[in-house]
Amino acid sequence: MRNQAKMVAGRKAVEYIENGMTVGLGTGSTAYYFIDELGRQIRTGHLQNIQAVATSKRSKEQAESLGIKVVSLDMVEYIDVLVDGADETTPDGSGIKGGGGALLYEKIVAMAAKKSIWIVTPDKVVETLGAFPLPIEIVPFGSLRLFDNLNQMGLNPQFRRLDNDSLFITDSGNYILDLHLESIQAPHQLALELDRMVGVIEHGLFLDLTDRIIVGYENGETHLFSCDRGAMQS
Ligand code: A5P
Repeated sequence: MRNQAKMVAGRKAVEYIENGMTVGLGTGSTAYYFIDELGRQIRTGHLQNIQAVATSKRSKEQAESLGIKVVSLDMVEYIDVLVDGADETTPDGSGIKGGGGALLYEKIVAMAAKKSIWIVTPDKVVETLGAFPLPIEIVPFGSLRLFDNLNQMGLNPQFRRLDNDSLFITDSGNYILDLHLESIQAPHQLALELDRMVGVIEHGLFLDLTDRIIVGYENGETHLFSCDRGAMQS
């Protein structure tokens, strides 16, 4: 049933896409439905002259298999609309992303997007971030040292592993540490601390980076939050 809600949100987001746009394709099981519907609209001729920039190999492959033209980020001046999932979001658009491990490319693409829309299920809308472990992408070199530092800071890191226990490797060849924080009271402050740490390539705190949140429900309804990027504080 949760997949139904993801599909509702993903399909709704396609309504924001217009002919001729460069579209950012997010990553994850909710973005999957957006990409799927975008492909359908292109195939049936409802949308024309669309090109896309993908935030992961997975999304690129899915898009190409559906006949969506995918170009590299460096080939476009900007992205008109990015549609992506999130792991947690407050109603005013502070979020945690990276549950699928694509946070680095997702943030790079988000920075290049004029408009960003998150598509989520209702369980992901929270008042305070942090119940979902915060992913950070780190350089493999010296990663145990970094792990220890984060541990001493009380950030409770865990290396992300695959089912076979091998370390998860990102599309850029890096590791992911998941910080088990339970509650993040000052996300902007934590973001600054992580930004300053050598070896941390990027973190999954996405603050002031989205304009709209579409919440999809199993019964087919959607709810929209509009975010005022400038108004968001820690
Ligand atoms: C990928 O790295 C993530 O940021 C996803 O966008 C996020 O985890 C949401 O994924 P789901 O839609 O699969 O929950």
